[in-house]
Amino acid sequence: MSADKIKERIEFLRNEINKHDYHYYVLSQPLISDFDYDQLYKELENLESEYPQFITSDSPTQRVGKDLTKDFKPVNHSFPMLSLANTYTEGDLIDFDKRIKKEINSDDIDYVVEYKIDGASVSLRYVEGKLVTAATRGDGTVGEDITNNAKTIKSIPLNISYDVVKKYNLNDFEVRGEIYMNISDFNKLNNERMEKGEKLFANPRNFAAGSLKLQDPKIVASRKLNVFIYSLLSENLVSESHWDNLMILKECGFRINPFSKVCKNLTEVNDYCRELESKRYKLDYEVDGAVIKVNSIQYQKILGNIAKSPRWAVAFKFKAKQEKTKVKNIVWQVGRTGAITPVAELEPVLLSGSTISRATLHNFDEIKRKDIRVGDSVLIEKGGDVIPKVVSVLFEERDPNIPETSPPEYCPECNSKIFFPESEAAAYCENSECPAQIKARLVHFASRGAMDIEGLGEALIELFVDKGFLKTFSDIYKLKNHRNDLIEIERLGQKSVDKLLDNIEKSKSQPFHKVLFALGIRYVGSGVSQKLVDHFQNIDAIINADEEKLSSVYEIGPNISKSVKRFFSEESNIKLIEELKSLGLKFYSEKKNDVQSNFFKNKSFVLTGTLNSFSRESASRKIIELGGKVSSSVSKNTNYVIAGENAGSKLDKAKSLGINILSEDDFIRLLKEVESGS
Ligand code: IVH
Repeated sequence: MSADKIKERIEFLRNEINKHDYHYYVLSQPLISDFDYDQLYKELENLESEYPQFITSDSPTQRVGKDLTKDFKPVNHSFPMLSLANTYTEGDLIDFDKRIKKEINSDDIDYVVEYKIDGASVSLRYVEGKLVTAATRGDGTVGEDITNNAKTIKSIPLNISYDVVKKYNLNDFEVRGEIYMNISDFNKLNNERMEKGEKLFANPRNFAAGSLKLQDPKIVASRKLNVFIYSLLSENLVSESHWDNLMILKECGFRINPFSKVCKNLTEVNDYCRELESKRYKLDYEVDGAVIKVNSIQYQKILGNIAKSPRWAVAFKFKAKQEKTKVKNIVWQVGRTGAITPVAELEPVLLSGSTISRATLHNFDEIKRKDIRVGDSVLIEKGGDVIPKVVSVLFEERDPNIPETSPPEYCPECNSKIFFPESEAAAYCENSECPAQIKARLVHFASRGAMDIEGLGEALIELFVDKGFLKTFSDIYKLKNHRNDLIEIERLGQKSVDKLLDNIEKSKSQPFHKVLFALGIRYVGSGVSQKLVDHFQNIDAIINADEEKLSSVYEIGPNISKSVKRFFSEESNIKLIEELKSLGLKFYSEKKNDVQSNFFKNKSFVLTGTLNSFSRESASRKIIELGGKVSSSVSKNTNYVIAGENAGSKLDKAKSLGINILSEDDFIRLLKEVESGS
């Protein structure tokens, strides 16, 4: 075949595959069998591997790239990614409608009502018909580049037909949508994990959001993610209404939610919101409300935005689903910090697709406030997470003889006296040798976000603690001295013990911020730990810092500082660190000591006036590259305003709020210092 013919065949195959992807993934109406599709795909793969000069980045074979994403680069959104104000009642909707009518000075307002999909928002930019960037929402102004991961989602088109681009003047445009996972796929995945004894994912939303931030696009491709697109943005839009935009999006090949509808007045809006609410449990994806949008684009422009949400749209939140059940028992669970949490054991009941037999009661004050007793009939509901909560007691069904719930006096695990601090609702077991605490601390230490020791889960830790092999973190690294004893343990065997010991050794290369997080210091989560490490670089600097010094770190408050100080003032903890150090764990950051680069990191800047050496855009880019944030307006959260020539109202506002002001020269000096690493 001549080169021309090969190219032609490759293009034909790509068009065919794109067409079938569209019918299968967007319309859910496949035109051919999986077998026939695979034949087309294989032929294209073979031709491209033989003639790599014809591979283009938008070929369907390039959806799953081979390269890992090392870090997700910042993306400046051309249009801010806004959030929505919430409404809960019919009255709230009446107020919303009134405000709109007053502002527009008309009684004739059309709305579009849509489902509010509960997933992770995404922004997709297309230039000349090709997908160029996919970004997360981030803080609404700057998101993260997740293009490689988004490309693996087959219902996201890589190309838009030239004719449609031309017809609607869509040379450079963005769409916004929600990436989610079907409930049935999510439940299947969690059931498989449960059978393997693996940790369950909390909910489809977290799962979808977490998937977009994976480094390996191959793993993302294996997760069944999907998308609904709900808005079209471009400087050059020719359409007059949101509804027209939805139709254009459809014509472009995007997947639009089929339940969106134009409503001619508030009564129709209300009725349709109820209808959507009543149908929500029939859907295979999670929704948490309806979105009501003013249809006319011209009206949307007049209405504009307040702070971070549009005045022309509002979310109507659905009620969380509730079920009735009975409290069989109230048990007290001891966590790794010694905090004791009451948990209600329930008669099992089915709630939005899963069987619930336990619910958290948070703390004793909550039990008292709601007056929850063993034997009560209660209403339970699922919040954002898998763990459901008890909403209220059905007092009319209460047996008058059942006693009030009283807080435990002694730790249910180790029997030591429980401490109730006056300032908190929590209760604590203060015995750091309490077996429940020891186990929970070790589970946290080995967990994925911490030392990530695969295979060392709750069950094994429990077993090893009970058998006397484990007590402190350092014992984990000494398990290899008990290899023969471990192999003897029923169910384990040589292969799995060696694999486990190997994983334990490997965990020694975990970076310092993960080690610090693994120690389980109260209030030191993974984010705080990263900030402490960025600032102090090594453990000795953290140990020696006083509370004031700790609090001077950006976003480290007095509670965290106190807790860190308290932890390191315990002799036993210092001894533990020394031991872990000598075992080879990392207690220093391997990044170069770039204290100055922290100047920009996690700080928020506003640029105003004219800069001589930079465009606004290039200055923003520099700040973002160095870990800072750039916002368009000055608020009390702004750390620095960089003021060029003729700076106006933003500079005045910064002065009135007492915000630090940098001149262009200051900015250049700081950049130089950071870039030279001094
Ligand atoms: S419109 C300016 N429509 O809900 C309009 N948002 O708080 C802002 N969402 O994170 C968005 N379904 O990703 C819109 N049909 C829908 C939506 C929707 C889900 C998400 C969105 C954002 C949040 C808004």
